[in-house]
Amino acid sequence: MSQQSNTMNRTETPMFQSYEQVEQAVMAVVEEKIINGRFLKTLRDGGFSSAQICEFALQYSYYSRNFPRVLGAAVAAVEPLDRWWVPLVDNMWDEAGRGNPKGYHSKMYRTFLESTAPGVAISDEHVPDYPVGEATKKAVESFLSFLRSASTLEAMAAVGLGSELFAGLVMGEIGQGLRHPNYNREQRLNVSFWMAHADTHEPRHYQLCKDVLLDFHSEQDLQAIYRAGVIIASSEARFYDELYDEMMAK
Ligand SMILES: [Fe+2]
Ligand SMILES: [Fe+2]
Repeated sequence: MSQQSNTMNRTETPMFQSYEQVEQAVMAVVEEKIINGRFLKTLRDGGFSSAQICEFALQYSYYSRNFPRVLGAAVAAVEPLDRWWVPLVDNMWDEAGRGNPKGYHSKMYRTFLESTAPGVAISDEHVPDYPVGEATKKAVESFLSFLRSASTLEAMAAVGLGSELFAGLVMGEIGQGLRHPNYNREQRLNVSFWMAHADTHEPRHYQLCKDVLLDFHSEQDLQAIYRAGVIIASSEARFYDELYDEMMAK
C-alpha cells in the first residue's frame, strides 16, 4: 500500500510503532501551531475588533464552502473501492445536510455570517459579496493540490489526520472564542455552525477515516500517514496565521 520513496530522509519524521503514536504526533503539531498560535490566542483573549471578526467570517466562508471540493478531490485520489470512497462521500453528505436543504452547511454558515457581517450582501446561494483574500485562497489550493498527486493512503490520511482529527477541537475553540463578551456587545454572534461541528460532526468524520487507516500497520505506512497528516495540518495552521495578518490590517 505504501508509496514511500526509498530516498526519504529517515531523520525527518519520528519512528512510529502504532497508529496511536501517529495521532499523538500530529496532535502535538496542532497544539503548538494552531491551538497556541496567535490567531486562536487573540480570539480567546477577546483581542480582535468587530471589523477583524467580520473579516474572519467573510474569509472563512470561502474556506468552508470549498470543503466539499476537498472531499471530492479525495474521492478522486483513492482507489475505486467502497471502503475508501464511501466514508468520504458519507462525510460529504453531511455538508449537504444529508439531503435536507435546510441542513446545508452553507446555510448553517450563513447564520454565522449574517450575525457577524450584517452590512455585507449575501447571495441566494450563501456567498458574500466580498473579495476572497490570499490566505484563504492559498489554503484551499494547497489542500486540493496535495490531493491531486496523493496516493490512496495519503488522501485518506490528509482528510483524517490532516483535518478531521482536530476539526472538532479547533472549531469548538473558535465557537467558544467568538462567545467572548468583547465580540457580543453590539449584537450576539450566532455560533451554532461552530458548535454543531465541534460536538457532533467532526468526531464522526474522523472515525470514518480512522476505521480505514487502522488497517495499515507497517512502519512505512505509518510514516506515510503521518507525513500526509502533518503537511495538511501545517497548511491549516499557516492559513490561520496568514489570516491573522490580513485581519490585523483591517
Ligand atoms: Fe461542515
Ligand atoms: Fe468534518
